[in-house]
Amino acid sequence: MVELSWLIDPIYIVTIFFFILCMQRMSHPLTARSGIVWAGAAMLIATLVTFLTPNLTNFALITIAIVIGGGFGYIAAKRVAMTDMPQMIALYNGMGGGAAAGISTVALLGTTTTVTGSLALVGGLIGAVSFTGSIIAFLKLQGWMRPRPITFPGQQIVNMAVLALAIVSGVLVILQPAWIPLSITMYLPLFFVLSLGFGLLMTLPIGGADMPVVISMYNAFTGLAVALDGFSFATPNYAMVVAGIIVGAAGSLLTLNMARAMNRSLSNVFFGAFGATEEKGVQIQGSIKSIGSDDVAVMLAYANKVIIAPGYGMAVAQAQQKVKELTDLLESKNVQVKFAIHPVAGRMPGHMNVLLAEAGVAYDHLFDRDEINPEFPSTDVVLVIGANDTVNPAAHRQGSPLFGMPILDVDRAKNVIVLKRGQGKGFSGIENDLFYRDNTQMLYGDAQESVGKVVQALKKL
Ligand code: TAP
Repeated sequence: MVELSWLIDPIYIVTIFFFILCMQRMSHPLTARSGIVWAGAAMLIATLVTFLTPNLTNFALITIAIVIGGGFGYIAAKRVAMTDMPQMIALYNGMGGGAAAGISTVALLGTTTTVTGSLALVGGLIGAVSFTGSIIAFLKLQGWMRPRPITFPGQQIVNMAVLALAIVSGVLVILQPAWIPLSITMYLPLFFVLSLGFGLLMTLPIGGADMPVVISMYNAFTGLAVALDGFSFATPNYAMVVAGIIVGAAGSLLTLNMARAMNRSLSNVFFGAFGATEEKGVQIQGSIKSIGSDDVAVMLAYANKVIIAPGYGMAVAQAQQKVKELTDLLESKNVQVKFAIHPVAGRMPGHMNVLLAEAGVAYDHLFDRDEINPEFPSTDVVLVIGANDTVNPAAHRQGSPLFGMPILDVDRAKNVIVLKRGQGKGFSGIENDLFYRDNTQMLYGDAQESVGKVVQALKKL
């Protein structure tokens, strides 16, 4: 058979170029979709060219694994609802961490130097933590586990003890000292059980509201584990190293940005057991008032400036097309329309941007929180479409579980219309002060239907 293994490294370099191109294209909503295609192509080419590795055995097993994994991934991605995307990302991320831990195991069982063994060990630890941590995040987001923090006395001490024992057993795997009678086949499973246990223990006390930060941090962990594993082979695998570093760096930046968006430090996320849903001794003042779609249409038609604050409910209702229709109609009546985008609105980073871009809302209509907040006092009407936590003024009140989370200050507008189906709470489960404000009125119903009715009423004016 013709020896083609010399092709591996040059082709890996091409895939590395594709990965970098992907990141560049992902940096703008209009090109993000094609970025994903480049990354997918790079991953496919890198996988195929790896089959040229000399002395590769187990072709059948590898192919079966790829068919099962790829088939499951394809079907699940085709079927998943947009609103279930975060848990799917958590699940895939966990699989990546588990795969990295698996590669570390193979590397540690093979012939390694102290340096490559240590890299495989750190990769294994991080990959295993990412695996169990992401699975817990998946279960909490999927609603198969209570999203509230699970805590017990002395939790941090237990966590640190488990981590310390994992590290000690890992060091024994590398050093294999003669004075300890047990073999590597004893330390290695112990090392992985403790690492997996640490990921579990670390994630249980984190509440549902912090899951976005947790998922992106485990994403960074998986990238780092893959990069370290790339170095653990006799000849480093540069495609793994570069792809891992890109994911690790992007995931770390995303984690920091999300934590900043929620005004939370990472230590507070991981050790704060955040997620309480009640504020004792506080009675919200005011009453809830409802309004009909005809009155909303009149209000909008006579406004100079309207800001739309979309949230998770817009995604559930798939109301983005109707919202675009409403925007066009208002603009044809010389009403200025802007969109206020909170960084954690919806259930994944950029959720609102993706939906609105899909509906054809021009990108220059979208404004982030810092840009739009000063504009609310001069706004005639704010339409809150399926948003709740991201517009809850309770975040300004000390003692509220939401205290400190930067929000869209929609309550400062002249009129606020909230579109939601009923008395449902937001993701955090915390009652919303906004609904009781004098300048707020509720338009009840599914957001797509409600916006549709407002559009019809506007057309008749
Ligand atoms: P949420 O606080 O989740 O509130 C969504 C609201 O939409 C609910 O109050 C619900 O009330 C309403 N709704 C649901 N279906 C609807 C429909 N068909 N029509 C009209 N309204 C509907 O939304 P948000 O302001 O976007 O906040 C996002 C929350 O999710 C934050 O707490 C954030 O931390 C968290 N989170 C974010 C992410 C990312 S990365 N974005 C990931 C995970 C979690 P009714 O039931 O009464 O209709």
